[in-house]
Amino acid sequence: MKFDQPAGSNPVDRLQVVGRPIDRIDGVRKVCGTAPYAYERHDVVARPAYGWIIGAGIARGRIGAMDVRAARASAGVLAIVTAENAGALGKGDKNTVRLLGGPEIDHYDQAIAVVVAETFEQARAAAQLVQVRYEPGSGSFDLDAARGSAPIPKDDGQGSPAATHTGDFEGAFARAPVQLDATYTTPDQSHMMMEPHATLAVWQGDKLTVWTSNQMVAWGASDLAKTLGLRKEQVRLVSPFVGGGFGGKLFLRADALLAALGARAAGRPVKVALQRPLMANNTTHRPATIQRIRIGAGRDGRISAIAHESWSGDQPGGGPETAVNQTRLLYAGEHRLTALRLATLHLAEGNSMRAPGEAPGMMALEIAMDEMAEKLGMDPVEFRVLNDTQVDPEKPQRRFSQRHLVECMRMGAERFGWSRRSARPAQTRDGRWLLGLGMAAAFRNNLTQKSAARVRLDRQGRITVETDMTDIGTGSYTIIAQTAAEVMGVGMEQVTVQLGDSEFPVSCGSGGQWGGNNSTAGVYAACMALRETVARRLGMDPSRAEFAGGRVSVPGGRSVPLGQAAQQGELAGEDAIEYGDLAKTYQQSTFGAHFVEVAVDPFTAEVRVRRMLAVCAAGRILNPKTARSQVIGAMTMGAGAALMEHLAVDKRYGFFVNHDLASYEVPVHADIPHQEVAFLGEADPISSPMKAKGVGELGICGAAAAVANGIYNATGVRVRDYPATLDKLLPGMRDVA
Ligand code: MOS
Repeated sequence: MKFDQPAGSNPVDRLQVVGRPIDRIDGVRKVCGTAPYAYERHDVVARPAYGWIIGAGIARGRIGAMDVRAARASAGVLAIVTAENAGALGKGDKNTVRLLGGPEIDHYDQAIAVVVAETFEQARAAAQLVQVRYEPGSGSFDLDAARGSAPIPKDDGQGSPAATHTGDFEGAFARAPVQLDATYTTPDQSHMMMEPHATLAVWQGDKLTVWTSNQMVAWGASDLAKTLGLRKEQVRLVSPFVGGGFGGKLFLRADALLAALGARAAGRPVKVALQRPLMANNTTHRPATIQRIRIGAGRDGRISAIAHESWSGDQPGGGPETAVNQTRLLYAGEHRLTALRLATLHLAEGNSMRAPGEAPGMMALEIAMDEMAEKLGMDPVEFRVLNDTQVDPEKPQRRFSQRHLVECMRMGAERFGWSRRSARPAQTRDGRWLLGLGMAAAFRNNLTQKSAARVRLDRQGRITVETDMTDIGTGSYTIIAQTAAEVMGVGMEQVTVQLGDSEFPVSCGSGGQWGGNNSTAGVYAACMALRETVARRLGMDPSRAEFAGGRVSVPGGRSVPLGQAAQQGELAGEDAIEYGDLAKTYQQSTFGAHFVEVAVDPFTAEVRVRRMLAVCAAGRILNPKTARSQVIGAMTMGAGAALMEHLAVDKRYGFFVNHDLASYEVPVHADIPHQEVAFLGEADPISSPMKAKGVGELGICGAAAAVANGIYNATGVRVRDYPATLDKLLPGMRDVA
């Protein structure tokens, strides 16, 4: 189904099932422990062998010699695979560096071996006996030091230019009566999802099956085949349940490759989970940024000049963190400049983490907007409202498909009690605690991606949906079932959803907050194909057949149970949603507003988030319950980004030091006492037949800045280097205690 015209009314608009806060259909299985994750596939292999991955002990250089004899002789050991005996390996399209290093080492904890043994403990013990002699080389690990020589790359890595310039920024900024020129930093961050990367690999002859934890089934299968030198048909990848991804499982990682290699070498099924420390230094992370923002405005508060430049680093061949991209679209202003600069760093690969680009970009931009509002003596909401734009400010002929940023801010201000905020900081107390209110806009682009599905109908009128879409905790199972139930006119209990298998039609996968809208649109397309087949089988005019209440009817004519169409055998519809030029003609984005109340201890600078509210405008909300869960999860990550999350770089040896959940801190329940989410009722006919957009990443964008702005309002201390830890707050707080 080609989607190249704004959607008219269609069966989804009935909203009998879609749009309702239906409980997750996989919820019971999850809480009962019967939803099988990759490392727990006892149902497919009773007694696999276990692999333990050894990570490189240097960040750069080469392996001079590796002695595996003692390990090989250790109890229970079945095989040890290194670059020396792995055979020729290719490299997946989505990987920047090799997943199995040696003799050259590209980064610390790059996998250099997998030890396979009868038990997990035996594999781990044997791995300690592997002797490696390294020849360390030198590398670049310090973004601040490398930034001076960082060029503007050829593009931003996502199909947009790395730099844009509209009008005369420098001149307009110099002339602006009110100016801000400030630099902000955001640290490296780790996804640290609950379920580690994990894979069970089974060979049958030259055919490989991996049960794994991956957001993008087709990418993973294709890159695994490519790396192993197999044909695509030789690899099956199964990922029906994913215990969190956040972008860290978009790509094939070492667990899958080394489980496959280990299983081949050991001649039996092998499972591998990445040890928690490998998550920091072996997999991908969100790269640190240094961001310079300049804003010039008239005394009336209208922005005349805005510039956003960002520096980040990555391995050779990698890409920049696209932290300036939202600034091309978010606020008006005639004279504009954005630029991404990319340094070479030899830390582990940088790549997508929840709302790549916008999440760190909004962390900086939305503090800058708060600072600018203060310079202008304006309320931060009013300053943003005044500088709203309904067109792409760099290309004014391009409109937004929908843009309700102002409505989000107004509704949020009203609900949160924003009018109680004191414009002067450090004025409000609750006992000893200093209280502050902060807000920020939220912005994240909406991406359209091709997505396919197959929908089957049996003689009982039951519907089975098959697509390689993944559910990474987001609710895909449920919204896909809702879509099929709605379009086929049956109840939710009649629908079975099967996901995450490379033998199913290729979906958009889960990433970039595109999963919800695109995967359901693909299911919609397949259901429409099935409806046509059903109507023809029943001798009805497909354009007049109505599907409701488990029946197919022609107005004024026959009405039969849906299952009757399948009496002679199951029927199936298979199709994909494919997009035309609407994403080029219209700018498609999602908007929101964050409001946060914080309390700060005046003596210790301990920050407590007291309340958070997000108001989101993100097209039709397919399921308010799962969407709300996505947004509060994202807001929680935003609070973590504001207050605690950072990978500390050892700049001498080139690795992230705090590589576990004891030292890489993330928010826990006690950190986030109260969250509310409101959705603006809207449906975007430009986005897809579902009229939905992404929302899972919108919720993190701006959330950290709202916390930071709240801290400023509470204390008068402006922290421009995330996270806002006590050591950065205390020196400025001597006067407020
Ligand atoms: Mo997302 S960071 O593309 O899973």
